[in-house]
Amino acid sequence: MKKIAFAATALVAATALALTGCSGERGGDAGTASGEPAAAGFEAGSTIGVALPDKTSENWVLAGQLFTDGLEKAGFKADVQYAPASNTVAEQQNQIQAMVTGGAKVIIIGAKDGKQLATQVQAAQDAGVYVIAYDRLIENTKAVDYYVAFDNFKVGQLQGQALLDGLAERAGHDAPYNIELFSGSPDDANSAVFFNGAMDVLQPKIDDGTLVVSSGQTEIAQTATEGWKAENAQRRMDSLLTSTYGTAELDGVLSPNDTLARAIITSVQQAGKTVPVVTGQDSEVESVKSIMEGIQYSTINKDTALLVEQSIKMVGQLQKGEKVDVNDEKQYDNGVKIVPAYLLDPIIVTKANAAEAYANVPSLLEIVNSFK
Ligand code: BGC
Repeated sequence: MKKIAFAATALVAATALALTGCSGERGGDAGTASGEPAAAGFEAGSTIGVALPDKTSENWVLAGQLFTDGLEKAGFKADVQYAPASNTVAEQQNQIQAMVTGGAKVIIIGAKDGKQLATQVQAAQDAGVYVIAYDRLIENTKAVDYYVAFDNFKVGQLQGQALLDGLAERAGHDAPYNIELFSGSPDDANSAVFFNGAMDVLQPKIDDGTLVVSSGQTEIAQTATEGWKAENAQRRMDSLLTSTYGTAELDGVLSPNDTLARAIITSVQQAGKTVPVVTGQDSEVESVKSIMEGIQYSTINKDTALLVEQSIKMVGQLQKGEKVDVNDEKQYDNGVKIVPAYLLDPIIVTKANAAEAYANVPSLLEIVNSFK
């Protein structure tokens, strides 16, 4: 009798272990091998959570609408949330937690601070929910299954190359060129990747004397723009102009995105100086106009529609229990694992190639054509 009771207890324990081992309802642990079939899949028509950060750039605003429409069109229920501008990290943590409790099967996250979501995404995984990091990597956790983004390192390289091309085209004199460097918010994992990509191109030119960073501020910490906020970039540019460019000419500025590019340009204009070659990213409407007017030099086309489409495709594959498309299994080490990624190709845009670069983006093409 005792023996049977013991065997029964052991069986219950073993079953419980097996159940926790397979983490809720999800199929194979997508975290252990890239693109691994999601085995069981989940019910069609399930809720998909989308947690986006604040609305500091146009791409985030656009993504929300595209996710709502695209997920509904694909037959899912969309739960799209933005974290408000204040208390963003805590609010985003709460929103993700609520999505897990609410029964979402996949949560797509554009992180405000990718280092502060480990607890929430672990809770998601424990509840059998798949987590996709969207545009920004989620760090220091095994519980992020996939990453979908434009190739961030390449974005940086394209920006660095555009700065060099713009200087050759517009500086009006030979090298050396005086430049300044700006990077994004330190809480965004992308910021370092953009900066490192740009420095991959610029550092050799700094080393050989073609470029001179007159302020001497070349470390990423010195160039950072807290919260990706325009006013912070403008303030830093103001102070650089005062400290370093009293009489000296400023030929170029590496700006990591369009919002900051326009703030940098405003600062220079208010100081009554000639606008230098300024790079950007995101193809924001005001920057595309500025480029067509010959003011901002370049931007990057990272078509949000394509990124959202790829994310929804991943959701569909997970739902059906199919293999998930990934094309990079090397670059995105989040501190504890290499996150299998699907990377899209960014396109550099200057006035010269704008019509071609936006051939598939009707709203921007219309702006470009209006300058013809
Ligand atoms: C995105 C950029 C954007 C920046 C500020 C980054 O993570 O990749 O496209 O300009 O955040 O929102």
